[in-house]
Amino acid sequence: MSEPLLTFQFDEKAFLEYYWQRRPLLMKAALPSWQSPLTPEELAGLALEDDADSRMIGKSKSGWALKRGPLNTTDFQRSDDWTLLVNGVDQWVPEVAALKECLRFLPQWRFDDVMVSYAVSNGGVGPHFDRYDVFLVQGTGRRKWRLGDWCDETTPRINHEDLNLLQNFDTSQEYVLEAGDVLYVPPGLAHWGIAETPCMTYSLGFRAPAIATLLARWTDKALERIDPDLLLEDRASVVETPAPGEITHAHWNNAREAIENTLSALDDGSWLGEIVTEHGECAPPPREDAKALCLHTGARVAWHAIEGQCCVYANGEMLSVPSSAQPILERICSGDRITPAEIQSVDSEFLSFLAMSGVLVEAS
Ligand code: SIN
Ligand code: CO
Repeated sequence: MSEPLLTFQFDEKAFLEYYWQRRPLLMKAALPSWQSPLTPEELAGLALEDDADSRMIGKSKSGWALKRGPLNTTDFQRSDDWTLLVNGVDQWVPEVAALKECLRFLPQWRFDDVMVSYAVSNGGVGPHFDRYDVFLVQGTGRRKWRLGDWCDETTPRINHEDLNLLQNFDTSQEYVLEAGDVLYVPPGLAHWGIAETPCMTYSLGFRAPAIATLLARWTDKALERIDPDLLLEDRASVVETPAPGEITHAHWNNAREAIENTLSALDDGSWLGEIVTEHGECAPPPREDAKALCLHTGARVAWHAIEGQCCVYANGEMLSVPSSAQPILERICSGDRITPAEIQSVDSEFLSFLAMSGVLVEAS
């Protein structure tokens, strides 16, 4: 029998309606039977790897200090209140990647990575805010989290060349988290975690595309397809006589409507799927005689249904396949094992598209 899914013990619907992206939420014992899959020593070992994304942040009387990875063993011999942080640990440790199961109620393409931290007593990364949503899962030990004000790019920071820490922090709420507790922090809310005992925190982080990026891609796509001879028609905008030299509201509305209508008419929907799956990790194509395949951790795959087809996006590339592909796509996106023949049965190009986009690996 397969393992039961890891889920937060809370009302997901109420969370989405009331808290998501708006309010912080403490979920005591949200993961009651979950145990930290890593020890501090294992995390430190990972931080020594050349291609791990690691850093250490310390606080002493002389202020805050940052040491970027790759780290070496002597970096841990320090006397300040330090924290070790490693990003993207889900790509290294399958048991950490399994934490993503808790997020099934959110769009998978919004998920970024699991960052794991280990702090000595009194360690912490200082008062700051993040631009993205984060679920802070307490792995081991006890950490006090202070929540502060809403911040934006204009909020004053301390003068530090490496760290983006807040100059002022007014505590509005304070919680002590123990293993299995989860704190959700929405984007822009100041927070400051201080270890009460040596402790480990797993941060399930999200990302969101910038509207500017979406707009640029959408218009680029439309410009590739537009007829350059298509001209603005005046229509009813010229019914009222303008003052000499005047651009009336009607002229302006007419031009804006023409752009909006053209963008909609030329929209093939691919801009969103491409952008949210770009910059995923690429695996080399699996062996041709592989018996079973599965999604490469760190690869980005998403899809949407449109007019009897499924548009599939894999690490920024797009392929349109018949809508009968949907159950297979759901299995791939869930990380299930799948045979090459099952993928082939959907569309002759489907397997090579996924393999060449670097999103499949041989399943063990
Ligand atoms: C930490 O794990 O110490 C920091 C996490 C965060 O503040 O987002
Ligand atoms: Co943070």
